[in-house]
Amino acid sequence: MAQTKIAIYPGSFDPITNGHVDLVKRTLGVFDRIVVAIARNPEKDRSLFDLEERLDMIRQVFKGFGNRVQAESFEGLLVQYAKKTGAKVIIRGLRAVSDFEYEFQMAMMNRELAPGIETLYMMTGQDHFYISSRLVKEVVSLGGDISGFVPAIVAKKLKEKF
Ligand code: PNS
Repeated sequence: MAQTKIAIYPGSFDPITNGHVDLVKRTLGVFDRIVVAIARNPEKDRSLFDLEERLDMIRQVFKGFGNRVQAESFEGLLVQYAKKTGAKVIIRGLRAVSDFEYEFQMAMMNRELAPGIETLYMMTGQDHFYISSRLVKEVVSLGGDISGFVPAIVAKKLKEKF
């Protein structure tokens, strides 16, 4: 029987945006199962949404995809979590050149730590290259309309926060 192809899509997802959602949907064309994995870092965490809120939003957004899209969290090294999950591939999105240096460093470090795990980069959808969780939070906090940048459930939660 063919092996299930699993990819980990790690990040902060504070909160998940339409850019993330688009990337997961496109990745499902290549992998059987995507684990959207929120990194827990209690010492550095300055997230707007707590872990449970972020997981819950992701689960609601992908509830129509059954077990093909899962939302989980992990603490510690990403590559160790990937091994535990049985994933050989880490997915990351690339928006602009400015993302590249950070992503390149992470990919090299992860490869050094775990040579059997590859990082695959997906170019962001052309409608989403300017969207980031950070900017979405800034815009909504200043009264701007963010309904085109995040799923409806996330827009509702953001409006409740501010
Ligand atoms: O969405 P983000 O904040 O850019 O995601 C960064 C993330 C979570 C992928 C990165 O911080 C991470 O992998 N954290 C887990 C700890 C780890 O493995 N650190 C070494 C990475 S080279």
